[in-house]
Amino acid sequence: MMTNSKREWLAFALALLAFIGVGQVRGQAPAANSAAPHLEKRGATTQLIVDGKPFLILGGELHNSSSSSVAYMKLIWPRLATMHLNTVLAPVAWETIEPEDGKFDFGVVDGLIQGARENNLRLVFLWFGSWKNTYSSYVPAWVKDNTERFPRVQTSDGRDTERLSPFSIASRDADARAFAALMRHVKETDADAHTVVMVQVENEVGIIPDSRDRSAAANAAFAALVPAELTTYMQQNRAALVPEFRAVWEANGSKTSGSWEEVFGKSALTDDLFMSWYYATYINYVAAAGKAEYALPMYVNAALIRPNYQPGQYNSGGPLPHSMDIWRAGAPSIDLLSPDIYLDEFAEWCQKYVRAGNPLFIPEARGGAEGAANAFYAFGQVSTIGFSPFAIDSEGAPPAVPSSGLASTETPRGAPIGYAYATLSRLMPLILEKQTTGEIASVVLEGEAQRAARVSLGDYTMTVTRAMNVTGDASAAAARASALFLQTGPNEYIVAGSGGALVTFAASTPGLPIVGIESIDEEFFDGGQWVLGRRLNGDENSQGQVLKLNADDSYEGRIYRVRLYRYR
Ligand code: DGJ
Repeated sequence: MMTNSKREWLAFALALLAFIGVGQVRGQAPAANSAAPHLEKRGATTQLIVDGKPFLILGGELHNSSSSSVAYMKLIWPRLATMHLNTVLAPVAWETIEPEDGKFDFGVVDGLIQGARENNLRLVFLWFGSWKNTYSSYVPAWVKDNTERFPRVQTSDGRDTERLSPFSIASRDADARAFAALMRHVKETDADAHTVVMVQVENEVGIIPDSRDRSAAANAAFAALVPAELTTYMQQNRAALVPEFRAVWEANGSKTSGSWEEVFGKSALTDDLFMSWYYATYINYVAAAGKAEYALPMYVNAALIRPNYQPGQYNSGGPLPHSMDIWRAGAPSIDLLSPDIYLDEFAEWCQKYVRAGNPLFIPEARGGAEGAANAFYAFGQVSTIGFSPFAIDSEGAPPAVPSSGLASTETPRGAPIGYAYATLSRLMPLILEKQTTGEIASVVLEGEAQRAARVSLGDYTMTVTRAMNVTGDASAAAARASALFLQTGPNEYIVAGSGGALVTFAASTPGLPIVGIESIDEEFFDGGQWVLGRRLNGDENSQGQVLKLNADDSYEGRIYRVRLYRYR
């Protein structure tokens, strides 16, 4: 017999699943012939559509080797699910699926799909094919051992490096054949359930420490004309080219034909642009072969540039901001160019990757409290389709908060990203809707030196100030804090955040000049829905002057509904 409390628990679980858009429990029979996961332009943004509905990836990327073992992953999956992830980014290595030339083994791939399904998680597969962090460490032994058939990037003194050369047709074709086999298999196993929602093709490509491949094939390509596909693209898209790329072209006379050094000048940057084209076209070939089998959205990821680093100190030829146009022209089968953001200036790097119509997805980033704050920024201000801290399997204990209600302040805390994802998953339907209408904004305070940031939304400008600067209480301040605003009416906002900050409101449109806080209501999630908490007034909002975001908000599952009014 089902007891009352069991019945209540079941009702709550079902309501929660429906609310957070899980919709259908993976493993159950999915809707027949529903479209494969795909990207769709919706209003102001591009969204990932899964099972016919928009979806935000609350992700985490595994350590490189975790997904090579189904047994190892057994203990990891439930932890990730408890951390409120909905998607796991998991490497699939060429050496694992094609241990012998032409003989495929998808045992590990099947185990990963099964493990994800059992824990109601989706997957993004990372194809560790020809390249992983510039090297070719994940190619099968039969590729590694045969440098005649699969030639390497060479140094200027003719020595091989441990990297396949992107100028080799044999390597490209072998990689494309394996990737196509993987995508065919994923389609056969998963075309109905849609556990796998997206695929990364290769990983952080580029050349280090030289600025380009010096093999004979590379030298011949470097001396030849810049391919007409690229120069034609540059002419046709001249006004829309990213400014730093157009500037290099124009500084060298805006030539429409010539060698790489004639068109872009004699510099290490030209080597980088040259390598970008050949990585892009190689990877495009691989991606197109995979898409011909199963057309999931595909992306490439970039290792970013540290201040003052030159090509070769950074990955020369990677999908970097200054070469976005080359990647767009050379790799039309790649849907997104994605930054791996480990550097401090998170917002600035996001902004660089939403240029040229590029939909944003952040496959790697720092985790911890910093990751939690960055996630609120990325979903709110740059409409990312997903966020994913690296090494999620060592991210700390799962959140100790119950999946509903407020946590006790005495409860020991788990990984900050788990709490951020709990709030973001509950707000997901609203975030998705507001990303399409543009009624959403965020700010992030990126370090103790950044005292305040401002953002406008609707008729109001919000100033978000580091808590310690106003209260003088340094312990209330995190190194990084963020606030997410969702406009729910002309004078009403839902606000959530991470790290703690103070928010004041000012008018940004003509009319009555002074803005007052009409009310601030706390809401928290219980029984599968948001319920009203306290009406915050008096000391809690400095007598109606300010919205206080507490450092504990995300731990305690709290958001705010703020109503404003204007007077003179
Ligand atoms: C970036 C790479 O893309 C990942 O695979 C991993 O190696 C991390 N760096 C390690 O920090």
